[in-house]
Amino acid sequence: MMPSSLKIVKYPHPALRQKAQPVQAITDEVRRVAARMFELMYEHEGLGLAAPQVALPWQLIVLNFTADPDKRDNELVAINPVIVESKGSVVGREGCLSFPGLYQNVRRAKTVKVQAYDLQGRLYEMVCHDLPARVWQHEIDHLHGILFIDRMGSLGRERSARELQQFIAEFEADKKKGLISADLVAQL
Ligand code: CO
Repeated sequence: MMPSSLKIVKYPHPALRQKAQPVQAITDEVRRVAARMFELMYEHEGLGLAAPQVALPWQLIVLNFTADPDKRDNELVAINPVIVESKGSVVGREGCLSFPGLYQNVRRAKTVKVQAYDLQGRLYEMVCHDLPARVWQHEIDHLHGILFIDRMGSLGRERSARELQQFIAEFEADKKKGLISADLVAQL
């Protein structure tokens, strides 16, 4: 697999519904994939990107809560991340790089404590509130095949119905044109 060929897949690509598997070893390939994911995340002005969004069923997330490629100190790589504690509840506007242009209110925990491994294989723990907590929850959901549309209230889902139909129509059209390769998913 060539990390440089990785692209962000859009809803309703089936890779987004796959359950990601734990990363067993931090190889050069994992490092190259993470670097490519940062590239894609910055290109699309995201705060986080999960491996299933590049059609890889790996428990791997990249994050930068500043979304600023010049602020590399803020980059986080999360391998096999888990939320070990969550508190409170808050509604906020949310989008997803796999649903370009779609934003809706989603209720999330206000505070989360996360454990993950970094690219050096060191376990770290982090407590986040508000927006960073929201990003963690959104990205970790991706690893379980859960999308933000699943977390919307009925009003948000109703308001998204037309956009979702459009994403499905575009996906079907791209598939007919041969632009979407199902092999991507098996490309490990
Ligand atoms: Co997303």
